[in-house]
Amino acid sequence: MKNAHPQLVVPNRRRVPKCWRGDLESVLIGRAELNRRTRELAKSIEADFSGRNLVVVALLTGTVLFLADLIRELRLPLHLDFIGVSSYGAGTRAGRLIFNKELRLDVRGRDVLIVDDILDTGRTLHAVIEKLRLLKPRRVKVCVLLEKRARRARNVRADYVGFLVPDLFVVGYGFDFAERYRNLPFIGVLRPEMLVPKSAGAN
Ligand code: IMP
Ligand code: MG
Repeated sequence: MKNAHPQLVVPNRRRVPKCWRGDLESVLIGRAELNRRTRELAKSIEADFSGRNLVVVALLTGTVLFLADLIRELRLPLHLDFIGVSSYGAGTRAGRLIFNKELRLDVRGRDVLIVDDILDTGRTLHAVIEKLRLLKPRRVKVCVLLEKRARRARNVRADYVGFLVPDLFVVGYGFDFAERYRNLPFIGVLRPEMLVPKSAGAN
């Protein structure tokens, strides 16, 4: 099954577009590959949720590009809502979790699909899943574009995973470094010299 075995991706130094060569050392996942895999994830989700009353709960802000591409491929009636979570810490390390946007829709008795950008330490998704369970949904499934396994601190499993990635700090397609680079249409790896510590970062 394709979805059970997300592919492990490796960086490709040659494909960085000229305008980003000063900032990025490699492209990890190109635009065509992101589109292809997003369509596959949508197919698996459609098969699991067909005919159900689905609420998609996306975590802000890193999911914006992925979410827009994923839900337009979903031929399902769905409701869309957002939870805002930020982790404040130095540089590329996450710190304390702060909820800055709460869910508005009622999820009691409904099927919920949480969409996040990446499952890394698992702290964010662990906290969000706990919070949602208190609202008594019928079931909760998790979809992430990327998964890094090296720094897992919480026992969290994602039901749908786009790509397994090595323990590198990535930017683009929603992923930021100090709020920059979210608009890149591909996922890239920053040059190490760009990773200077900043005081705050948001998810
Ligand atoms: P967690 O460690 O699983 O709780 O993930 C927390 C958040 O860290 C994610 O939602 C991302 O916003 C951020 N994050 C983790 N790895 C990266 C990365 O490589 N680039 C950009 N943000 C990341
Ligand atoms: Mg995030």
